[in-house]
Amino acid sequence: MKTTAPPALIVNGRRLRIKAGDRRKILLTFLREDLDLTGAKRGCGIGMCGACTVLADSRPLRACRTLVGAVLGRSLTTIEGLAAPDGGLHPLQQAFIDAGAIQCGYCTPGMVLTTHAFLLKHPEPSRAEARRAISANLCRCTGYQQIIDAILAAAPHYRKKE
Ligand code: FES
Ligand code: FES
Repeated sequence: MKTTAPPALIVNGRRLRIKAGDRRKILLTFLREDLDLTGAKRGCGIGMCGACTVLADSRPLRACRTLVGAVLGRSLTTIEGLAAPDGGLHPLQQAFIDAGAIQCGYCTPGMVLTTHAFLLKHPEPSRAEARRAISANLCRCTGYQQIIDAILAAAPHYRKKE
């Protein structure tokens, strides 16, 4: 007799079995409190600020507005999964540091993942395109210019690989 595999969720390459009781949890809460992945932040909690952004199959997703049960079978990437396994920063993360695109840092995980998804599809963006790409992610500190500088500085990396 064929058995059905228990529902799974892949988080940063790790396959997790999801208990029935966890399916109704808010994804952001599940990531932060159950998996101890605290990179994604709770800002507005209503899908407006982007601080909670994670990637689902390389597309940005607002974890504060998503139930765990809605992403079963998908592959999630949090900011913890972007760095190399040895902890080395991803070139995009390094570009944010080099450009001074981080002040308090609260928006940064969501901003970096949103940007990563964008650059995978648009590795040669104009400044205007880069600005549009982050228009749904709010930053109260930087004034956005350094973030756009970081996106443009990291773009050549995406033209080479990924
Ligand atoms: S905390 Fe999710 S969009 Fe603001
Ligand atoms: S660096 Fe503070 S909110 Fe963006």
